Amino acid sequence: MAEVDDKLKDYEIRKEGEAEILLHKRNAVFYNPVQVHNRDMSIAVLRTFIAKRKEEHEALVDKRNTSHGKDKLSEISCQNGEDASTGQQDEMELNKAEVQIDDLSKEATKPPWKVTRELKPPLVLEALAATGLRSLRYAREVEGLGKIVALDNDKASVEDCKRNIKFNGASTTSKVETYLVDARIHMLMHPKEFDVVDLDPYGSPSIFLDSAVQAVADGGLLMCTATDMAVLCGANGEVCYSKYGSFPTKGKYCHEMALRILLASIESHANRYKRYIVPVLSVFMDFYIRVFVRVFTSASEIKNTPLKLSYIYQCVGCDSFHLQCLARTVPKKNNGVKHAPAFGPVVPQECSDCGKKFNVGGPIWSAPIHDQDWVVSTLTGVKSMKDRYPAYDKITSVLTTVSEELDDIPLFFSLHNIAGTVKCTSPSLVMFRSAVLNAGYRISSTHVNPLGVKSDAPWDVIWDIMRCWVKNHPIKEQARDSPGTVILSKSPKLEADFSRAVAALGKSGAKKTKRFLPNPERHWGPKVRAGRKITSKHVSLLGPDAINAAVNGGGGGDCHREGSGAAPDSSNTAPEPEGLEDEPSNKRQKASGDGEPEGQKASDGEPASEA
Ligand SMILES: C[S@@+](CC[C@H](N)C(=O)[O-])C[C@H]1O[C@@H](n2cnc3c(N)ncnc32)[C@H](O)[C@@H]1O
Ligand SMILES: [Zn+2]
Repeated sequence: MAEVDDKLKDYEIRKEGEAEILLHKRNAVFYNPVQVHNRDMSIAVLRTFIAKRKEEHEALVDKRNTSHGKDKLSEISCQNGEDASTGQQDEMELNKAEVQIDDLSKEATKPPWKVTRELKPPLVLEALAATGLRSLRYAREVEGLGKIVALDNDKASVEDCKRNIKFNGASTTSKVETYLVDARIHMLMHPKEFDVVDLDPYGSPSIFLDSAVQAVADGGLLMCTATDMAVLCGANGEVCYSKYGSFPTKGKYCHEMALRILLASIESHANRYKRYIVPVLSVFMDFYIRVFVRVFTSASEIKNTPLKLSYIYQCVGCDSFHLQCLARTVPKKNNGVKHAPAFGPVVPQECSDCGKKFNVGGPIWSAPIHDQDWVVSTLTGVKSMKDRYPAYDKITSVLTTVSEELDDIPLFFSLHNIAGTVKCTSPSLVMFRSAVLNAGYRISSTHVNPLGVKSDAPWDVIWDIMRCWVKNHPIKEQARDSPGTVILSKSPKLEADFSRAVAALGKSGAKKTKRFLPNPERHWGPKVRAGRKITSKHVSLLGPDAINAAVNGGGGGDCHREGSGAAPDSSNTAPEPEGLEDEPSNKRQKASGDGEPEGQKASDGEPASEA
């Protein structure tokens, strides 16, 4: 016993969920406690995946068993042709059909009237495992999972991971395996083998995407984190282009644009192997983005990819932005559709609202970034197991807000920003939402930004609402050529009605559900890569407070364990949405809560701080 105690004296034990890990007091294996949000969300989505996968399999078995020898394969192929012509709305049916085709073709030699093939528990790959905490939590907490393979190319990490597997007892030793290997090579050597692939890298996942999309089984789930927000949000557009193949525009929507850039990049890698993705949940949380996408194989569906991608025109003078889809469909002579280049440009040379020029960015994923059925199932599942999620409040608030997003409207604008453009006091969110709804358009919040607004109202309607608002809330005279002056110089065609519309509060607003929570801890945020030296660049990026905490907080000068992170302001975390009250507010939203990658202004585009 004394011997065991002696061995353990160099370690501290950290518990998260049902897993415990041993952290060596001196070595530098990566561990970031605030990523509990990320791990909890992943567990929640994994549970939904297991349930949906089972449902899909049972539906397929039922269909096969009731068909009694009909030629199902040709029937489904025919349905599939029709689905493809109806576009994205039927995407899920199409995906299901694709899975069916795939399964049926694999089983073509078996009698078609009786399916006995059992559904094997999903095989999981955590490609970048560090301490193994995530894999251990999956093994201990998610029922119905098969084997979990945890990889790392760092010897100390794999040793830690092995120790942690043993430390968690029989339930993990029988389930979790760990290997010292470059994850890219392992994924390439195991094509379509894993039902779930989890990528949780330092900074950018870009170098892992090509192998990851090949390693996911058909219908499987790829979960991917990116913490290089400065790059994705446009601090260095050329770096973003080199990593993801997309040029960011620095709009207030930049964190949603980051999600859409990552999705477009994953799709592009998948398409190379006749595969395509279906996003089920895409979130910006704390200081990173995380996407959950299913991966399918279909040579015909990949032809639709250009319909799911758009360039973006961002006005440099006002907040207006416009999407330009890459392609359009043209009916074929004998049924079906073919694809042609889209007509463009969708904007004139100069912004019709303020007269300034446009920046062009993209391409971004402009199809839905969530499947609302998955979102609602995940939220319901989380609520039914409250005690099993240490980050319950955070993930329910994110999922609730996501469940309310208009998912056919890419990107959003900030209410305070459009008020800033015309230099007026801002109407409250409720008043603004009411005016949009009363004008006959849809409007929703976004999980990305408490003051963000998604709407299908065209920009001339948005500016008309502001023109009407300014009539009753006069402003000081501005420079003659400022975008605001040009916008206000036109008379509104629409008489805005600010009287409260029933739907203006939104569901969670009406229920007073907390949607945006405060920072998880004092010095929270990205962690410095394990083993990296703290340099002046980190100090300038993360702030002296965060570095002090990193250096002093871990005990014994261990800068990799404790408290390292972005300056406390560098988050999407923001106060409760202002303006749920009826009174106008002229408080200006600070950039950090308004979508700007504040506190992440990398000088060379490399993420100096990484999760
Ligand atoms: C951010 S940490 C992973 C954190 C972990 N997923 C968690 O939830 O705690 C990234 C890990 O990826 C490992 N890594 C980096 N490049 C790799 C590669 N090519 N193959 C395998 N592991 C790699 C690093 O050694 C590091 O331990
Ligand atoms: Zn403009």
